[in-house]
Amino acid sequence: PLTGTKEMFARAYKEGYAVGAFNVNNMEIIQGIMEAAQEEKAPLILQVSAGARRYAGQTYIKKLIEAALEETDHPLALHLDHGQDFEICKQCIDGGFSSVMFDGSHLDFEENIAITKQVVEYAHERGVVVEAELGRLAGVEDDVHSEESIYTDPDQAVEFVERTGCDSLAIAIGTSHGAYKFTGEARLDFERLEKITNMLPEFPIVLHGSSSVPQEFVEMANKYGGDIGSAKGVPEELLRKAATYGVCKINIDTDIRLAMTAVIRKHFAENPSHFDPRQYLKPARQAVKEMVQHKIKNVLGCSNKI
Ligand code: G3H
Ligand code: 13P
Ligand code: ZN
Ligand code: NA
Repeated sequence: PLTGTKEMFARAYKEGYAVGAFNVNNMEIIQGIMEAAQEEKAPLILQVSAGARRYAGQTYIKKLIEAALEETDHPLALHLDHGQDFEICKQCIDGGFSSVMFDGSHLDFEENIAITKQVVEYAHERGVVVEAELGRLAGVEDDVHSEESIYTDPDQAVEFVERTGCDSLAIAIGTSHGAYKFTGEARLDFERLEKITNMLPEFPIVLHGSSSVPQEFVEMANKYGGDIGSAKGVPEELLRKAATYGVCKINIDTDIRLAMTAVIRKHFAENPSHFDPRQYLKPARQAVKEMVQHKIKNVLGCSNKI
């Protein structure tokens, strides 16, 4: 069944783990994630970005997730990732999403508060929860590009949550979107996270840009004709540690892309005569499943939590 995230996050907070929020763009990705979550009996958030809606089409992506809901009794939340304005959030709320993000991180503080509040009002009247964002992540998304990150100010975070009534808050403490997160040593500002957690007790914190960029996939892709250079993500131990604080939702997209691409490149290199998409999409789907299962078990700590 389709669920919200309120109870999911309350338990994650109490028990010191995080729920994985995985970006979905096509059938194979959805199937791989679903298999992993089911085997692990793990709470799950499937999230859809504006890019995903453009790629697959709003109707297709929605129907694919409905298929997942119909085939299993596994509970999952359907979340809009990085909603840019009130209108997109409204569309998704009206279209049956159980959770939406309004991303006003590029706006000034007051403007971010004003629109977040508007989304919260509309969403709450309809039983939908709202994630907001304060602070800015560096990195690339289809729709937002930021050179520099601005870490979340703890005092502002408290004021923001009080004034908007949002249900969860994405913060900036050193993660970033994409495959090139750190040039030197990877580090997150745990002092800041701890401060925010202490000042907002029991309030769910969200970490975007939390792919680990597994080196096995980078090496595999590069070995079989790829050129993705020295990509680097958030080390798993740091994510594990973040999950024991107030972090209840950890966003992962890049690792899905890398897993599929690495395995497909290898498949093509080893099977130059193959041309049936099922021949390479099947191992790609399997790679997504194994990667997600590993995260759930060893990084997020949310196995057997449903
Ligand atoms: O936050 C960014 C996500 O990875 C979604 O990326 O907008 O290219 O689908 P996208
Ligand atoms: P990654 O690019 O680290 O996978 O982050 C995904 C994300 O934050 C989606 O909102
Ligand atoms: Zn994000
Ligand atoms: Na947690």
